[in-house]
Amino acid sequence: MKFFIDTANLEQIREAYDLGVLDGVTTNPSLMAKEGIKGVQNQRDHYVKICEIVKGDVSAEVIATDYEGMIREGEELAALNPHIVVKVPCIADGIKAIKHFTAKGIRTNCTLVFSKGQALLAAKAGATYVSPFVGRLDDISEDGIALVADIVEMYRYYGYETQVLAASIRHTKHIVECVEVGADVATCPLSAIKGLLNHPLTDSGLKKFLEDYKKVNG
Ligand code: G3P
Repeated sequence: MKFFIDTANLEQIREAYDLGVLDGVTTNPSLMAKEGIKGVQNQRDHYVKICEIVKGDVSAEVIATDYEGMIREGEELAALNPHIVVKVPCIADGIKAIKHFTAKGIRTNCTLVFSKGQALLAAKAGATYVSPFVGRLDDISEDGIALVADIVEMYRYYGYETQVLAASIRHTKHIVECVEVGADVATCPLSAIKGLLNHPLTDSGLKKFLEDYKKVNG
């Protein structure tokens, strides 16, 4: 399973990259706003900086919600760097835009997906990635991981090549559950990625190894 980090924070992206396990980055307008990145040019410069750190897929989301606007913006974003994946919301004009981008060889991430039907449309339009939002479904007492599992099963049954990118991952257990249901990618906060490392038996085992080493070697 590929690991993406879900942030626009350059320090966190560098830290995850330095860990040696990072395959890409996803951003969205809220994450860009959180970093205080204002204005079209600054935002585009920021995407390029992210691409230079990661050298893997970097999702950059269109702001337009109409077909022509999405096409214009998506083509500009894709031209910034070969690693850019154009992120498009799962609305009617978005599905049409994904079809257009697919025909032009521009890779896409269909975002804000909350149902199997939406995921079906994204795959039929040729999206590179589909992003079911796990945490936001859990927030309303639905089962986000069950949706990821259903989409994986549907894509395998029909042979769709769209990769299932589990998004809105909130914690380490979500990542492990994504593995269990066969998600292609999980995009996670840095805290959830680092959380995978934690185990008290690792800490106590390492402490004992070092103590025993010192007993003999001083
Ligand atoms: O990738 C989508 C993600 O950023 C949404 O996460 O935590 O705002 O639901 P969250």
